[in-house]
Amino acid sequence: MIRIFSILAGLFFILGLLWSTTVDTLAFATDGLPTSPEKEFHEHPKALSLNSDGPFGKFDKAQLQRGFGVYREVCSQCHSLKHVAYRDLAALGYSNNAIKAIAAKATINAKDPLSGEMKDRPGMPADHFPPVVYGGKGVPPDLSLITKARHGGAPYVYSLVTGYTAQPAKLAGNPETKTPEGLYYNPYFANLNIAMPPPLASDGLVTYSDGTVATKDQMAKDVSAFLVWTAEPKLEARHQAGFMWVGLMLFVTVLSFLAYRNVWSGTKH
Ligand code: HEC
Repeated sequence: MIRIFSILAGLFFILGLLWSTTVDTLAFATDGLPTSPEKEFHEHPKALSLNSDGPFGKFDKAQLQRGFGVYREVCSQCHSLKHVAYRDLAALGYSNNAIKAIAAKATINAKDPLSGEMKDRPGMPADHFPPVVYGGKGVPPDLSLITKARHGGAPYVYSLVTGYTAQPAKLAGNPETKTPEGLYYNPYFANLNIAMPPPLASDGLVTYSDGTVATKDQMAKDVSAFLVWTAEPKLEARHQAGFMWVGLMLFVTVLSFLAYRNVWSGTKH
């Protein structure tokens, strides 16, 4: 009796196993086929090579300054940058006076030390970039950590801001998939229709002080490089610490090899 019972239990498990493998395999096989517009038309980020890439990566300060210019002139109308303080801009090569001047252009709502009330005052180097009030459609996310927060990082941001195109006829012709009023078609955005109007719609939105020509593509690259810095200002220090460790480990390896030779030198003939 017990025997029959255990055979039945075994059969039950085998059946369960077979069932789950076939169901999963079928799901996997059909998943590869385009079943939704998102799957069919979504595009992976374009290639973007930046100075800060790779283990030897260093920031290109001139590019970061240009990218900051693009943020300030264009993106800051809608996006905040709350994790960055004005004084952090020293890392981009700005002098203290330049930072004071940049901060002073911002209006900061803070507690007045005399009256204790909230009051508007000009920004100071220790202030963080202020919140942004946006009245349009959608919610512009804070950009401080966006290159870490989105799969694809800087290449994603670059592709997104340069990626607006006309909607393919197959989607535009169908009322179910047609881009809704007030949204914009962008194949790099997860659901293809984004509430952000094309932010870099024409060349020359900023004037670069280093003479670089501000094409749409250039501005997109520069602002993406800048957003790598805002998300990880200590990237260079991390790379350096990594190399120190590798160096130290190599040194210890050599040292222990020499010690080993020394200890065993008498026993080997
Ligand atoms: C007119 C306002 C406006 C401007 C200017 C603007 N954005 Fe946006 N942005 C938005 C809105 C609104 C969203 C949210 C879109 C949504 O969720 O559909 C957004 C979303 C984003 C996202 C997140 C996309 C995602 O994956 O969720 C990134 C990255 C971004 N913007 C980058 C930029 C950059 C870089 C600039 C400057 C070159 C810029 N934006 C300028 C309004 C703006």
